[in-house]
Amino acid sequence: MIRRVTGTQDFLDLTLLNFILEQSKRFLKLHHFNEIMVPILEPTELFKRSLGVETDVVKKEMYLISGHEDISLRPEATASTARAFVENGIQTTPWKVFTWGPMFRHERPQKGRYRQFHQLSIEVIGTNAIAQDVEIIALLDRLFSQILAFDSYALLINFLGCHEDREAFKVELRKFLEQHINEICDTCKVRMNTNIMRVFDCKNEHDKQLYTQAPQIIKHLCKICSAEWQELQELLELLSVSFHVQPTLVRGLDYYQKTVFEFVSGNLGAQNAFCGGGRYHKLVEIVGAKEDQPCVGAAIGIERLLLMLELIKDKLPLPQPPAIQAVIPVEKAQHAIALLVGQELIKHGICAQVMIENDSLKSMMRQANRIGAQHAIIIGAEEQAKKEVRIKNMMTGEEQSVKQAELVQFLSK
Ligand code: HAM
Repeated sequence: MIRRVTGTQDFLDLTLLNFILEQSKRFLKLHHFNEIMVPILEPTELFKRSLGVETDVVKKEMYLISGHEDISLRPEATASTARAFVENGIQTTPWKVFTWGPMFRHERPQKGRYRQFHQLSIEVIGTNAIAQDVEIIALLDRLFSQILAFDSYALLINFLGCHEDREAFKVELRKFLEQHINEICDTCKVRMNTNIMRVFDCKNEHDKQLYTQAPQIIKHLCKICSAEWQELQELLELLSVSFHVQPTLVRGLDYYQKTVFEFVSGNLGAQNAFCGGGRYHKLVEIVGAKEDQPCVGAAIGIERLLLMLELIKDKLPLPQPPAIQAVIPVEKAQHAIALLVGQELIKHGICAQVMIENDSLKSMMRQANRIGAQHAIIIGAEEQAKKEVRIKNMMTGEEQSVKQAELVQFLSK
């Protein structure tokens, strides 16, 4: 047997997935976000330049296309969206867009972590207003709590300041780490020299404990950033969005500055973030624009939402599948008329399956039962001659003959 690639999944029932997508798209369109599609294949250089060569995603997790080493399967969609903005010469800002689709990262698979996974990615390109960050966070919070009916999640926020703030902060952080150099793990020692703020992503319990005493970036912000950080918190409070400040939240991609946030849930195990985002500057310039655009965005991990929705799906207004009508020709001679009857039902929006496998009537009736048909619509030689069908109600067992011309009307009752 040929098995699926490790870290990928088959989705055989899309009811929940489609529910998430339809509700999210409707909600985003109400906020005047437009849906776009960007390629799954992108130049590797795009991700190297935007996410950062020292990030785990670029360093260890990229899927490079063999024989075409300059092309990769995208690991996320923010860089592609910035590229699309520049390449298509978009002039109207803020450009409010969203896109959804598969992303690829060569990570160690575990619950909620896959190598092919799906994101719904939301971006606003060309916005300096911190109120825009608040709109996105509040929108996501309402999507999760009101539209998707989640009740057990938390919003974590932090503020990474501007470039100058981070450079000054890194000096403070380095001093702290040097004081504890004999205690920290080897990964953190390496990160001290490559991407020092990523030490806060350390999974080692001792290090995590130690970093609760480390200097905090929110205490080292310049005047402008400090005012924006206050504004962010005040506006979230005014909009009744509950949040926790997590001073060690730095996010794993290099493009962030100022606002960063994550929605996490205790129902997800170790991979507890089901949505993450923040403000990013310089990305538009990095991908080739003459003039930079400040941006803010977020991505929702669809697989993690599915894990959460699975637990509460009975409470959700999921669409009911349509009633199925099984059209059963008794013999080969009735195949054509059965196909015509099936077409007529479908034309009128009635879901029909025509049984044309040359089986016995008994086995076709069994099959109709198995697919949960509401009625079996049987056509034998006699019915064909009289231009009728015999209808069996699969629930009650009741049978009656109906003119073919009146079938749609009968089923629509
Ligand atoms: P990210 O935090 O790397 O951010 O991913 C966002 C979400 O995608 C995560 O919170 C998680 O739910 C889901 N996710 C990530 N990796 C995996 C995986 N291997 N398996 C399953 N789910 C996963 C970004 O990708 C940024 N582009 C978000 C963004 C948009 N920032 C600004 N705009």
